[in-house]
Amino acid sequence: MSKVKEVINKLTKELNTHNYNYYVLNSPIISDYDFDVLLKELQSLEEKHPEFADDNSPTKRVGGDITKNFPSVKHRFPMLSLGNSYSKEEIIDFDTRVRKVIEREIEYICELKYDGVAISLSYKNGELKKAVTRGDGISGEEVTANIRTIRSVPLKLKGDFPTDFDIRGEIVFPHANFKKLNEERKELGEPEFANPRNTASGTVKMQDSSIVAKRGLDCFLYAVYGNNLSFKSHYEGLSNAGGWGFKVPDESANYIKKVKTIEEIMEFIDYWDDKRADLPFDIDGIVIKVNAYDKQEELGYTAKSPRWAISYKYKAERVSTRLNSITYQVGRTGAITPVANLEPVQLGGTTVRRASMHNADQIERLDIRVNDTVFVEKGGEIIPKIVAVDIGARQKDSNQTIYISACPECETPLIRKEGEAQHYCPNENGCPPQLKGKMEHFIGRKMMDVDGLGAETIEQLFEEGLVKNVADLYYLTSEQLLPLDRMAEKSVNNLIEGLIKSKEVPFAKVLFALGIRYVGETVAKILVKHFKTLDLLMAATTEQLVAVDEIGERIAESVVRYFSEPTTVRLIARLKVIGLQFEIGEEELAGTSSLLEGLIFVISGTFNMSRNDLKKAIEKNGGKVGSSISKKTNYLIRGENMGPSKLKKAEDLDVSMITENAFLKMIEKNSPGDTTVNHKPTQGSLF
Ligand code: IVH
Repeated sequence: MSKVKEVINKLTKELNTHNYNYYVLNSPIISDYDFDVLLKELQSLEEKHPEFADDNSPTKRVGGDITKNFPSVKHRFPMLSLGNSYSKEEIIDFDTRVRKVIEREIEYICELKYDGVAISLSYKNGELKKAVTRGDGISGEEVTANIRTIRSVPLKLKGDFPTDFDIRGEIVFPHANFKKLNEERKELGEPEFANPRNTASGTVKMQDSSIVAKRGLDCFLYAVYGNNLSFKSHYEGLSNAGGWGFKVPDESANYIKKVKTIEEIMEFIDYWDDKRADLPFDIDGIVIKVNAYDKQEELGYTAKSPRWAISYKYKAERVSTRLNSITYQVGRTGAITPVANLEPVQLGGTTVRRASMHNADQIERLDIRVNDTVFVEKGGEIIPKIVAVDIGARQKDSNQTIYISACPECETPLIRKEGEAQHYCPNENGCPPQLKGKMEHFIGRKMMDVDGLGAETIEQLFEEGLVKNVADLYYLTSEQLLPLDRMAEKSVNNLIEGLIKSKEVPFAKVLFALGIRYVGETVAKILVKHFKTLDLLMAATTEQLVAVDEIGERIAESVVRYFSEPTTVRLIARLKVIGLQFEIGEEELAGTSSLLEGLIFVISGTFNMSRNDLKKAIEKNGGKVGSSISKKTNYLIRGENMGPSKLKKAEDLDVSMITENAFLKMIEKNSPGDTTVNHKPTQGSLF
């Protein structure tokens, strides 16, 4: 085997192990940073040696493959569904039926019923070959490129796996990642997703796998399928699969339980009915399966589902109440959200007064009318939603809801773009909540971070007619502010000082603060790094923007549209006069230095500066940080209390050792642009 291939294999193995530790076992043994360094190393080797390209390389986890049409693939074993039950009587009936056929001791496995999207994964010789959705149960859509990005799905197996088998499970959207996604969408002015399950389902079928990679889906496996499998029961199958690297139910957390009696089944049902709200993902019930494969065969199947398994579905908490009125909210970007104002009602331990109705389609589909008795549910959603209307209880004189056609705030006719569910108010520069929303966004903590100014004050200043846009804020005087309610001399000074200080906020944050649709924190950073000045960014065409790594057409078009607006041009001109930062700062520029390019550093021990800052300094100057000392290490930065084994290894491999100070001198004496750093240090020297 060639040397390069050997290194690629070694890195692949190492990365796969770290992935498994992090995403399956939840116990990483290296930092995210060290992981990234290894990954980048592999990426660069693969780029240089495309002949060793491998579809299941850990570098494929970040996605990038675009699938236009998902091919239809026939399942090797049909994907059956489960018989559902909503009452304990039905579970008792199930147990009776099973015992009638088997007449011997029965062992059941109780599991969680994950609320996500079913997936079937095919592995050959320990490699992921295909990931296929359920479809109609006979054939589904092949979504392999997207599933590869899910970190808990092993791409290469470990241990003693069968050479050819399928494994099935559920793709779920963990609550934390779902929340993060919605926060990001809010920041970008995009409508939030309603619930984790539908979002998981939509995500699995996205064309761009790099977006899937960023969303953070998870995959829990629940059954192994194959011919001539060496094990004899469902439970054994799952525990073996755990050994091959799959995320299977954790017995110690009671996600799975072997039971023998109906009482134990009921206990499991009750346990999770009580505790399911604490799970970090959604379940909608539990599943009970006969464990032994031979007994499963004896019991057989109906046309649609096995006779050896059943699901017990939890009833979603649901109450009925009166819909008093419908109001419409206008967001920062003009998106309209209908809100149901309810007669207050208790649901899941809280008083519910409002429910979301998402958009016009939903109101029409459920025929929701004011004064109706509506059913409200709290599922995985953050805000409760109306799920149905009690038509029987409807008053005779009720009127069908006519969705508003004009903005409730500024009366501008609403627009609805083709293919979009949301209505928008297009009056960006005159609609009060949009104007206020833009200013609130601008002063936010992650943007201009203006001390002494909050949403309430913006509201007050706007109502007083003192500010209409973000530039107006900088022209406020103490004479204007002092007479206002709740404004004392101290708060006025704070506010004015906060605004003056915000003039130092770096360009990337200013760009983010402007609130351009689809330009969030990360995109702003990318644009600033590439274009360096606002003038160059404003002059960029859609083509030039799309050519920038990670900038797609949607963002490019939004940026071009924003800067072509006469109001934007006027606003920017004013902000320039005020003195906001519209050019990348020197410090940020230094980030692009290639001073240490090609050098690999290992850090060991404790230092005056934090290890993280030290790592950043290396990276900022183009160097890499390795996780362990090897022949490839150029420098070991040696801190206090470094372990003796590391020291010995460095000496054995003749790796140069330098102190923290020596390192700082190294980056200091070469100003950015001067690339004459000595890349071949004297071996074994200690500065
Ligand atoms: S077993 C032949 N186990 O529920 C039975 N299914 O109707 C195959 N599901 O969409 C399914 N958690 O994806 C099984 N622990 C679990 C499950 C589970 C969720 C889903 C499955 C399918 C539906 C079954």
